[in-house]
Amino acid sequence: AAPLRLGLAGLGTVGIGVVKIVQAQADLITARTGRAVTISAVSARDPQKNRDADLSAYAWETDPVALARRPDIDVFVEVMGGHDGPAKAATEAALAAGKDVVTANKALLAHHGQALAEAAEAQGRVIRFEAAVAGGIPVIKALTEGLAGNRMKRVMGVMNGTCNYILTRMQSAGLPYDTVFEEARQLGYLEADPNLDVGGIDAGHKLSLLAAIAFGTRVSFDAVELEGIGNVSIDDIRLAEDMGYRIKLLGVAQMTGRGLEQRMTPCLVPSASPLGQLQGGTNMVVLEGDSVGQIVLRGPGAGMGPTASAVMADVIDIARGLRLPTFGIPATQLAQPTAASSATP
Ligand code: NDP
Ligand code: HSE
Repeated sequence: AAPLRLGLAGLGTVGIGVVKIVQAQADLITARTGRAVTISAVSARDPQKNRDADLSAYAWETDPVALARRPDIDVFVEVMGGHDGPAKAATEAALAAGKDVVTANKALLAHHGQALAEAAEAQGRVIRFEAAVAGGIPVIKALTEGLAGNRMKRVMGVMNGTCNYILTRMQSAGLPYDTVFEEARQLGYLEADPNLDVGGIDAGHKLSLLAAIAFGTRVSFDAVELEGIGNVSIDDIRLAEDMGYRIKLLGVAQMTGRGLEQRMTPCLVPSASPLGQLQGGTNMVVLEGDSVGQIVLRGPGAGMGPTASAVMADVIDIARGLRLPTFGIPATQLAQPTAASSATP
């Protein structure tokens, strides 16, 4: 079979992780898909940067929109970030040019998922985004494929590793929020705009994507009730600990009689529970279906290897010919959710 040719937009943490897997696992990928997966061209802002990978075989495009339109690519892999600007423009250009899209960009899909999914499906293309939610944990595949026979009752979890690191460290070292926030900054854990992490926005993006798949509703990030961790004090953490609880930035999405409830807020969880025991940058997602009961997925929510692992799982699905609608059912059939918080009880 003809090789599947990638155009890779973004050569940062995730993009270089993808290059490494494509190069190191070429034989394995061919064995699993029956075809080679190759990179034709790459894009980033700075062509001079030393990127700790051999990119010499790939064509270079400084403009990701030009990359997206190249005739020598079949799949546009978007790992730049940002919900407007080049990520959106290049994703739209890729779909219009008849390319499939793989992205790790939860912000893009939380803001524009409906329009992009409709554009993709109108073109007969697919958008896959396993890496966008909970990094290396295959939660999108679990929902869209493994649990497809279930009516989902609830989706919840800890989906921002940085917040979990900050809260865990405050609790274990007895350090105040500001000190640990600074520590997280030094360690490079925080997004360029730290409010995406500590304001709960990044985790809210992820929850809104899971809710769309779980409940067959249009992505409705604006309806997520959001509260970050900036007001959690060391006194709150100590008091909770004395009562046998820990504070976690916990997301919950469920369909109630009043509509779709989506909350991403600091919550008390029993210290001895799996959620209470979740340490450092780890993520945990709990999926509850009517037939299967409760499934708990736990693992690395970020980082080069885990995130690239999820990107490559999507690429491999496309190489195998798996073509599912973006959110599990055709985008035009997704229901308009009623937000539980704004509905009359
Ligand atoms: P980085 O900041 O490490 O890399 C971003 C890359 O995109 C850089 O190579 C940068 O170029 C390039 N880029 C940015 N803007 C432009 C532009 N206007 N034109 C061309 N190239 C551009 O980000 P990450 O790799 O960490 O994240 C990428 C995506 O993956 C984001 O959507 C993020 O939310 C998501 N993600 C990241 C995870 C992680 O652990 N890092 C986990 C899960 C998802 P240059 O290098 O020249 O500056
Ligand atoms: N900032 C995110 C986190 C990166 O800390 O979980 C992974 O999406």
